[in-house]
Amino acid sequence: MKLAANGPEFSRIIYGTWRILETNPTPQEINSRFNTCLDHGITTIDTAEIYGKYLVEESLGAALALSPGLREKLEIVTKAGIYIPNAFHPDRRTAHYNASGPRLIKSLEKSLRLMQTDYVDLFLVHRPDWLTRADDTASGLNELLANGKIRSAGVSNYSAAQYELLNGYMDQPLVTNQIEFHLLHTEPIHNGVLQQCERLGVLPMAWSPLASGKIFDPANPASSRLAEAATNMSSRYNNASLEQLAYAWVAAHPSHPLPVIGTNKLERIKSAAESDSIVLEREDWYALWEAAAGRKIP
Ligand SMILES: NC(=O)c1ccc[n+]([C@@H]2O[C@H](COP(=O)([O-])OP(=O)(O)OC[C@H]3O[C@@H](n4cnc5c(N)ncnc54)[C@H](OP(=O)(O)O)[C@@H]3O)[C@@H](O)[C@H]2O)c1
Repeated sequence: MKLAANGPEFSRIIYGTWRILETNPTPQEINSRFNTCLDHGITTIDTAEIYGKYLVEESLGAALALSPGLREKLEIVTKAGIYIPNAFHPDRRTAHYNASGPRLIKSLEKSLRLMQTDYVDLFLVHRPDWLTRADDTASGLNELLANGKIRSAGVSNYSAAQYELLNGYMDQPLVTNQIEFHLLHTEPIHNGVLQQCERLGVLPMAWSPLASGKIFDPANPASSRLAEAATNMSSRYNNASLEQLAYAWVAAHPSHPLPVIGTNKLERIKSAAESDSIVLEREDWYALWEAAAGRKIP
């Protein structure tokens, strides 16, 4: 899928690396994970400077270094702009956002070094920084685009108004807004963000399409309603699982969001990739919405 007229081509499903260190994988295991993704048509990898308390990118770099040529088979997305106190940064007193141009450039250059690559396919401002002017943020992104360190620029967790403001200062239009969108967080349907993507012809990226696993939480009443709804419709979709239906639900929005998945299980990467072909019928999409919301549509 082309993310935007001036954007990169990404796979329909994107593999997210936020949780990748939870199982203490070796570089070889991460390398195998990438190859599993490729085997199933998932070519796009999402990461961020802050993931794994600033340790994930270095692990990805070690995994990529094991197979010359692997990096070119993948599209890499990274993000910057969130800074938290931790062992590497004892000088930081308070978690904060910083999307100033110089700060973004410094972070991206560190990301390239850690991932052992010369460029990323997409660089995102991780969260809107309430204290930085949009022209300042844009100056950093424009410089990185001009010197080829990033092939495209976008944002994450931006409101429609924040996106519009920053986009106005960009030399090349932003190519996505990566947002939280799933059955337990449907606000983007109503807050204008998905409509803005549709109007501008950019595909949103949808993070945590399984609500970080909460759609399977037995303590959550929405989960049992979703499980029942999924069972009722599964036979119409080649016995699809709830997780596959949840991915298909996200992807069915007319703005064509690309789900950014987070499993550490190889078989679940495969089943996510297979969800790609599910086209939910209108009434089933609304039935899943009702099950998640616990009420009828207005
Ligand atoms: N831009 C942002 O601000 C932002 C914020 C959050 C995340 N993200 C991106 O989105 C990616 C995905 O986020 P996420 O990890 O929250 O995604 P997710 O796909 O919603 O959730 C993944 C979690 O669900 C669990 N899970 C999957 N299938 C399951 C099943 N059938 N039963 C029970 N548990 C199941 C997984 O466990 P297993 O590993 O055991 O399968 C994993 O812990 C991240 O890696 C990151 O790249 C971006």
